[in-house]
Amino acid sequence: MIIRPAHIRDAEAICSLINYYAERGRMLHRSLESTYEALREFHVAQDEGGALVGCVAVDLFWSDLAEVKSLAVLPDRRGEGIGRKLVEAAIADARELGAARLFALTYEEDFFRRLGFSRIDRETLPEKVWRECIVCPKADACDEIAVMRRIDNA
Ligand SMILES: CC(C)(COP(=O)(O)OP(=O)(O)OC[C@H]1O[C@@H](n2cnc3c(N)ncnc32)[C@H](O)[C@@H]1OP(=O)(O)O)[C@@H](O)C(=O)NCCC(=O)NCCS
Repeated sequence: MIIRPAHIRDAEAICSLINYYAERGRMLHRSLESTYEALREFHVAQDEGGALVGCVAVDLFWSDLAEVKSLAVLPDRRGEGIGRKLVEAAIADARELGAARLFALTYEEDFFRRLGFSRIDRETLPEKVWRECIVCPKADACDEIAVMRRIDNA
């Protein structure tokens, strides 16, 4: 299994993996168009047979702040350490870009805790973070948890 930057030919598999979980209320829906637009932000996990088994993206917010988002692992490949490897790749990517802090909005608090993230008050995140909420069906009743981790070794 390798983690590598996404290629244009991965877009459809990334989009269908994200939307599998979006249909189950676990993630925000993503169009194929927005997947192509954001493709440079993605890393994917590819198994020995060449199949895409997971994805993750890093979005920069401000001088010191980045978000790890669109994290998903194929349902029948969960629990094999792929999610951990993807988040580690996202951390390396955000660190390389110079971000000091990485946050996520998630229902998977325990998973992120194991990777060194801690729960934070959502209200401490900049307003810009909530721009995608306009398109979310849960906008007015959001129950996602915010988690944050320093990645600059401070
Ligand atoms: C969350 C998700 C990415 C985790 O991926 P995964 O490949 O199953 O996770 P890993 O196997 O790498 O697990 C890493 C560690 O977290 C633990 N873990 C994984 N999921 C967990 C959960 N739901 N609750 C508690 N611990 C969890 C694992 O036991 C493992 O612990 P260990 O290192 O002590 O052995 C995957 O379950 C998924 O795609 N979920 C649906 C989409 C989603 O909710 N994405 C998050 C959006 S922010």
